[in-house]
Amino acid sequence: MCLADEPPSFEDDVMGACVERLGSIEAIDNYRLPDLRLARRIRYEVKANWKLIIENFMECYHCSTIHPELVHVLPEFAGGYAAQYYVGHGAEFGPDVAGFTVDGSAGAATIETLAPEQDRRYYAITIRPQVFVNLVPDHAILHRMYPLAADRTVVECDWLFRPDVIEAGVDLDPSVELFDRVNRQDFDACERCQPGMSSRAYVDGGVLVPSEHHIADFHQWVRDRLKGKK
Ligand SMILES: [Fe+2]
Repeated sequence: MCLADEPPSFEDDVMGACVERLGSIEAIDNYRLPDLRLARRIRYEVKANWKLIIENFMECYHCSTIHPELVHVLPEFAGGYAAQYYVGHGAEFGPDVAGFTVDGSAGAATIETLAPEQDRRYYAITIRPQVFVNLVPDHAILHRMYPLAADRTVVECDWLFRPDVIEAGVDLDPSVELFDRVNRQDFDACERCQPGMSSRAYVDGGVLVPSEHHIADFHQWVRDRLKGKK
C-alpha cells in the first residue's frame, strides 16, 4: 500500500525490479504468486536502520560465515557472490540437496508452471524501497519492512505455498526454518553494524568497492528521493 497522493507506477517500480533481476515478466509470472497462499508469518523487531537491512540483503560476502544452513543448500553462496548482480541468474541447489529446507531434505510440491531452468534454483529480488521477494521451486518468501525509528525496523516475513500443499497439512517447518534462521542471522549482523553507522565515517554512506555498485545505486536512489527526485 502506498499513501502518496501520486503513488509510483506499479509497472515501473515493482514489475521493473522483477524484470531487471529475472530478465523477463514471464520469469516472475511462472511462480503464479497471486495463486499462492500464506502458510506462515513471522514478525521480527530489528534494532537497525531499514537501509542497513537492504544493504545486507543485497550482498553475500557474509553468507559463508553466518549462514551455514543456506550455504549448504546453495553452495555458490560460499563464494560471496553479490547474488543480485547477475540478471537472470539463480543460485543452484547443491548436488546432495533435495529442497529449500533447513537440512536440505525434500520440500513441498513444486509450483507446476515453473520453467525447467527455474527448478532447483533460488532467486532474490529487491523491490525498493522495502520489499524482498525470494523465489524457490515450491514456495515464495516475502519480506516487508516498516521503519519505526532511525535504528529500529519491524520486518514481516511471509512464507507462501500452493493452496493444496497447505490444505494437505504438509509439514512446512523444515522449509520455514531455513529462512527464519537466515533472517535471524542477518538481523543479528545488522544490529551489530548499527552502532558503527553513527560514526562520522558513514556520513556519506561509507566506502564501497566496485563490485558493490548495486549498493551504490541504492544509496543514490535514496539520495534522489530525499531531494524529491523520482
Ligand atoms: Fe544474509
